[in-house]
Order: sequence, then C-alpha cells, then structure tokens
Amino acid sequence: GDHRDLHSFPTHALPIYMYRSHTNGALRIEDVNKEVTLAGWVQKTREMGAMTFVDLRDRYGITQLVFGEEHIAIAKELGREDVIQVKGLVIERESKNKNIPTGEIEITVKEITVLNKSKTPPFTIEDETDGGEELRMQYRYLDLRRKPLQDALKLRHKLSIEVRKYLDSIDFFEIETPYLIKSTPEGARDFVVPSRMNEGQFYALPQSPQTFKQLLMVSGYDRYYQIVRCFRDEDLRADRQPEFTQIDCEMAFVNQEDVLNTFEGMVDYLFKKVKGLEVDAFPRMGYATAIEKYGSDKPDIRFGMTFNYINEETQNKGFNVFDQAESVIAIVAEDCSTYTRKELDKLVDFVKTPQVGAKGLVYVKCNEDGTFKSSVDKFYNQDDLKAWADKCGAKAGDLILVMSGNKAETQNQMNVLRLHLGNELGLRNPNIYAPLWVYDFPLLEWDEESGRYHAMHHPFTSPKEEDIHLLETEPAKVRANAYDLVLNGTEIGGGSIRIHDKKVQAKMFELLGFSDEEAQAQFGFLMNAFEYGAPPHGGIALGFDRLCALFGGQETIRDFIAFPKNNSGRDVMIDSPSAIAKDRKSTRLTPVTWPSRM
Ligand code: AMO
Repeated sequence: GDHRDLHSFPTHALPIYMYRSHTNGALRIEDVNKEVTLAGWVQKTREMGAMTFVDLRDRYGITQLVFGEEHIAIAKELGREDVIQVKGLVIERESKNKNIPTGEIEITVKEITVLNKSKTPPFTIEDETDGGEELRMQYRYLDLRRKPLQDALKLRHKLSIEVRKYLDSIDFFEIETPYLIKSTPEGARDFVVPSRMNEGQFYALPQSPQTFKQLLMVSGYDRYYQIVRCFRDEDLRADRQPEFTQIDCEMAFVNQEDVLNTFEGMVDYLFKKVKGLEVDAFPRMGYATAIEKYGSDKPDIRFGMTFNYINEETQNKGFNVFDQAESVIAIVAEDCSTYTRKELDKLVDFVKTPQVGAKGLVYVKCNEDGTFKSSVDKFYNQDDLKAWADKCGAKAGDLILVMSGNKAETQNQMNVLRLHLGNELGLRNPNIYAPLWVYDFPLLEWDEESGRYHAMHHPFTSPKEEDIHLLETEPAKVRANAYDLVLNGTEIGGGSIRIHDKKVQAKMFELLGFSDEEAQAQFGFLMNAFEYGAPPHGGIALGFDRLCALFGGQETIRDFIAFPKNNSGRDVMIDSPSAIAKDRKSTRLTPVTWPSRM
C-alpha cells in the first residue's frame, strides 16, 4: 500500500502507473474479484497436479499466483528470479497463510508476460540464504533483494527522513560542502584524487566537513547540518567503513549544554518516531570516571560489572604477580560461582589471546555455603578472600575475576573481558538501548611514535576555561569541551565546542608541534576567517551507519550500506580498487566519444 498523505499533493501531480495496478504487498481479502496487474520476481514455483503456484515477490511483499491448465506450458518454464507481469483475478485462498499480509488471497492468472528470464541465482534469495559472505558481496544486487537487507535500507531511509524533519523543525539548514578538498585533521589517512588541470597536484577527500562547517558559522548560517559521506583510509572493523556517512551538525552561539540538549532531543525523537520507544534523559559520565569504572571511553552501561581496585586487599601476601602490579582490578560475574573448571580455563585462554593480551586471570568462587575457592589459595586464606569479596560487593554465588599489571593496560584488558562476559551472560540485549554522554575528554593525548601531543578530538576543539592555565605546564591534564554520544558500547557521535579565537587556535597548533608556516599552509584559511567576526560555535557529528545498525539491532554496519566494502577495503562486485591504464592516471584522460543519438 501507499502510506503517503495523498491530500497534500495536487491531484494533477499524482502519477498514474501503467505497468502494474498493485504491488505484491498490497492485496487483501477486500480486493477479492478485482482484476489486477502485478509484476515482480519469481521467488518459488510449486506444481500441484495441473496447477502451478508461484510466489511473486517485490519490495512490498509476496503474492501467490495460480496458473491453471491453459498456462501449464509457460508456468513449467518459469525459473527463480524470472521477471514477469501477470493479469488476473483476485480470489480468496482455500488454505490461508497467516504469516504474510497477502496470505488470504491469491491471483488466478489470465495472462502472463515474461519480461526477462533470469539465470539461476548463485544463492537463494530468501530471508535465510545459503550463500556465503564473499559470494553475496560479489552479487550484492541479488543479496539486496532479500528482505533483511531491504528492511535495513528501509530503516536507514526512515531515519534519514526523520533526522531531516527534526533538524528542519529547529531551523537547521542542510548545506552541501565539497568532496574535493585538502587534507582534514581527523587523524586518519586521506584518500587522494589527482587533478587533471593541475598536473602533479592532488585533492583529498574529506574525512569530515569539519573546517567547512566552521566557516559556515563564520558566514552566519547559525545552524547547519548535512547527511554527508566521509572518507577515511583506516583499518576496517565491523563498525568502520572507508566511506561512511555522518549526520554532521554545527551551531553558533551555543555552549556545550546547548549542543547536548539539542542532539539528545534528536536521538529521543528518532527513538520515538522510528522505534516507538521513550528513553529517559541520557546519563552523563566524565571521561575519567568512564576509564576508571569501565576501562573504556565508550562504556556499555546496559549492565554493571564495574571495576574494583583491590590493591590493598591483595598485595603483600606473598603473591608476586599482584605485589608487583600497579593495579589489581576485579570484576564480579553475578551467579557464576558454578562455573566449571573447563569454563574457567576457557576464560583464562580468552584473556591470553592477542585480542586481550593479558598474562593471566585469577578467579575466586564465592560458594553458596559462604566459603571461597580461588585459583590462588596458596597465597590467600578464607579471611583474605572474604576481604576481596567485601570490597567488590560480591555475594554468595558470585564469581570474582581479577587481573593485574600496568594500570592503563589492565583497564583495557578488563574492558575486553567485561564485554566478553556481558555477551556470554546475555547482558547485552540489542533490544535494550542505553545511551550515554561521555564528556570532559582530555584535550591532548601523547603519541609515543611521534613523541608529541596529538589532539584527542581534533585541533579545533577548545580547552576548558578552568584548565587553560595548565596548557604550558601540564598539557596532558587539560580537559576539552568535547563530548561523545555512546549507545550500547558504540561511539555513535562526537563533537566539541570549538576555538573561535585566532590566537588560541595558533597556540593550539603550536602545542601540536606545527610550525607557523605549516599551520598557515594547512589551516590558514580558517585562522584568517577567525579574524572576521567568528561567533562562538560548536557541534557534533553522528555516525549515521552506526546509528542505523544499532536501531536495527546489529553491531555490523555493512548491511545498512547498500554497496559496502569488505574488510580489505575492496568492493568485490565492481572489483575496486584496481589498476588504471597509464594514460588515464595523469592528465591525459582519453576522451570517450558516445555514439550520437540523432
Ligand atoms: P569523529 O571523528 O568522532 O568526529 O566522527 C564522528 C562519528 O562518525 C562515526 N565514524 C565512523 N563510522 C563508520 N566508519 C568509520 N570509519 C567512522 N569513523 C567515524 C563515529 C563517530 O563518532 N568532525 C568531527 C565531528 C565534530 O567535531 O563535530 C568528527 O568527524 O560514530
């Protein structure tokens, strides 16, 4: 059916369709006795005596066709994925199918036209397919015919419409910014494009529209957004693609609170409109707390299992490993004291994998009878272990897991273990949504490799007023007016209040190790603009693919992108990237002459 509000269109503007009278999801019992024309793909054929039943599919659904004796020859020839058009009569089905909306009716076919034969597809085009990953990527256009993928792209469409409605309702302008630009500062590698007219020179594709949206604030546009493609040449993961989409936003005359409220409002609106969910005010957590309690700046707060620091309770009892450790960190897996030896060994093996990189794992079972059983009983008696349990708030029936070492590393490892246990124990239900703001990020982060500070967010992020005095003396301690929006352990957005003062911006580049010339060459246009009345401004960008995936209950963004790349950054369908012919690489692109139409 058509869900548009037809009254809002002038009648002469409504199209009339000739190829089909209805889609394959439209017909109901009320339509019995109508003469209809349908078109679509043959999903399945079944012969029953002299009759042939065909499931006809399109984006809207499936309708059952019945071919009688007079069409037997042609019906027998129909193969999967043939494209056909039929004219026929809607009749009530004898055996109804309650699982599909059109399940009460079928079409007795009077005329059939085969519009296009199909080769046998390399995998079945059904909800559950027999096709492997690689094959489906190669025939992405066939995979995209499957309902789970159509649902994913429908969700994406719906989200983009609602995003635009919300932002439009509060006076945001959608403004496009260029794709052929020069290097942006988001910290990944750029993709570069050679320029034909400027031999030997290159454009870079934007990692984000960051500098342009700031310029738009200088230009007085006040509220900007763009659902925009960004390009980053970085290592790929389930939630990373080399080209991905941001809901990119910027506002003038705002402070951090204004930005957080605006975009919390947007995400609230999306939850309500798209998922029918009401969410409470998003909790907020300082970066330092997130690291201390979860070992991550994007904690999944759907479950607890927060960190306990138990140095005091564990050190100086003769257990060398703990004695030498900067931090001894414990988490409590509730009701897991019954873990078998085998299950515990598996956990130990898990933390030793390169993915976690820990040396080992100590456990304490808090038995139901009030006794304790640990993997370090040699060093700790029952009273010692009770002290651990008390410190961690563990009760009888729980399992305590402990790792130790360098603080930051152990926090990292514990984070991975915590998420792993969360998955194993079913604590990460994709139908539960736990958004969270993380804020007060450090302004700078030390980079061992280059031996200098990098901007943690990007170099346009402003330091917190009260920390500015530390810029010269203890730069690592300076906090930024920067924030991330986290949903179920995924970073779905990040932003900041920007620097709008040329002197502060220059100082920032200096801290980051840019010479004046370098700063001028790369970002002179922005610093110059700051001299012509730049308003205070700030913004955020949400990862649109990630948002779609989370709304769809998935962790992988790939199926929410029509034509994604694989993990090596390849499009296996069009076989790209690929070598290009020598004369096309440079400025001497051979002109292609198309045959004239006249
Ligand atoms: P940032 O780099 O945090 O901020 O990016 C914003 C959001 O984009 C998403 N994202 C990605 N999604 C898929 N694949 C990728 N490779 C990828 N990289 C990032 C994440 C992330 O939170 N200009 C700033 C925003 C600002 O300051 O306003 C920026 O780009 O969900």
